[in-house]
Amino acid sequence: MTDNQETPDAEDATPSRSTTLPPPPPLRPPCERLSCHKTSVCSRSYFVVVMVFFHVYIINVIALLFYVHYNSGQDDANRSRDAPTGNHQQRPESGRPPSKPEFLRDVSLTRIEGIRVGHVQKVSLVPGKVHEMRTLSLKPLLFEIPEFLSEDECRVVMQLAQLKGLMESQLMVQDGQEELAKELNLSPDEIFNLLDINQDGELQLHEILTHSRVRDGIWLTPENLREIYAGLKADKDGNGLLSLEEFRLLSNDAFQRFLMQQGVKRSQLVRNSRHTWLYQGKGAHQVLQDIKERVTRLTRLPPSLVDLSEPLQVVRYDEGGHYHAHHDSGPVYPETACTHTRLAANTSTPFETSCRYITVLFYLNSVEGGGETAFPVADNRTYDEVSLIQNDVDLLDTRRNCNKSNLRVKPSKGTAVFWYNYLSDGRGWVGEQDEYALHGGCVVTHGTKWVANKWINIDPDYQRQARYQQLVSQQPEDEEDEEGLTLNPDIQSSDIHEDL
Ligand code: OGA
Ligand code: CA
Ligand code: FE2
Repeated sequence: MTDNQETPDAEDATPSRSTTLPPPPPLRPPCERLSCHKTSVCSRSYFVVVMVFFHVYIINVIALLFYVHYNSGQDDANRSRDAPTGNHQQRPESGRPPSKPEFLRDVSLTRIEGIRVGHVQKVSLVPGKVHEMRTLSLKPLLFEIPEFLSEDECRVVMQLAQLKGLMESQLMVQDGQEELAKELNLSPDEIFNLLDINQDGELQLHEILTHSRVRDGIWLTPENLREIYAGLKADKDGNGLLSLEEFRLLSNDAFQRFLMQQGVKRSQLVRNSRHTWLYQGKGAHQVLQDIKERVTRLTRLPPSLVDLSEPLQVVRYDEGGHYHAHHDSGPVYPETACTHTRLAANTSTPFETSCRYITVLFYLNSVEGGGETAFPVADNRTYDEVSLIQNDVDLLDTRRNCNKSNLRVKPSKGTAVFWYNYLSDGRGWVGEQDEYALHGGCVVTHGTKWVANKWINIDPDYQRQARYQQLVSQQPEDEEDEEGLTLNPDIQSSDIHEDL
């Protein structure tokens, strides 16, 4: 070790090097040096040095030329891809349309910059008024805009929802699951294997809890689960884990039957609220159309994308209501379809999600107690799904653990918050799901809570979104100068119908 450490020092020290070099040759007069003979070492090394410099110079010049050429080529490519959307009727180079509709990617989605938490930017959303938009977190990219809706607008939206009638957001028990398991004819060992997420041969509390929430929409707490274990005498060795042997002794639907016997209360569901949908298109109440227009200005997205999104969802939580932490939209894999573009996609896929790129959440009233919107992992350094439920602390539980969430937004009448549920793909389109966008509605401890959701649906698969828009878009005589996704005009609608 000591040797290794000393070597570089010794090399750097000039005095020690001079001692190892041979003594310098005696100086000769210049003329003698110039007339060096071809054979002499001196002239050969001089020649070699000059040649090396010459070559290095030439190589540098060539490299520079290559660099300039390559860079200007890439600029051209970027320019054509990110062309401003003003000229929507660009034609592709080749005259012949491709056999499958391939739309030019000529739209880039604006993504508002958060700068830093607490940053305030002024936005112009309605004539004669400037709104302030504050960055609440960067992961997810989340903003708050006070006074987004006027008091009157809030009142009209709540009244319209009441007029239409609200329905339970979640039904008590979802049937048909047992049949599914029977149809698949899975053995207890196979079911055990499916549930054992970390594949350690035992079922931890969180493995059972997550399963029950996703499967039945029933929100069991760790205590509930211990009670069930005790009632069914399931955990024989009492270590809080289910081994394969313990699991085998339980009948397939023992859990289900036990829960039903006990009776499930609404407060034990994933979501305890009522909601309805309000259409915002032509002919809708002016307030609803105005809100849609304002959302378009706020998000700076093409109006056609906002127009073709889900209607406004109005939600009412009564005292004791809640919505445990969730994602408004799921991850997108190559085999995942988006609900809104599903009809336009000519393949059937096993998975489906709502592809809600943005959530705009409006508070329609100020809540007397509780009812905050919680973001348990906002701006966390890391995201670790497993550690969200650890023994007795379940960060997803908005009835108990909202106080442990990284961020909570207090409902205030007229305020809007909005966030991106997906990251950017780096090329101006929708990328992967943002796991940090996890959020929920904390339990309402006093009074009633009214909110509305405006989701903006965009398919991360550009081609599917473009095809869907082409299919549902009005004929040119109806919509003249509508901004929006530009589609390859060489593709005739007959081509698309053929593909369906
Ligand atoms: C929702 C939701 C949060 C809240 O409706 O999807 O997350 O604060 N609501 O009500
Ligand atoms: Ca396990
Ligand atoms: Fe939500």
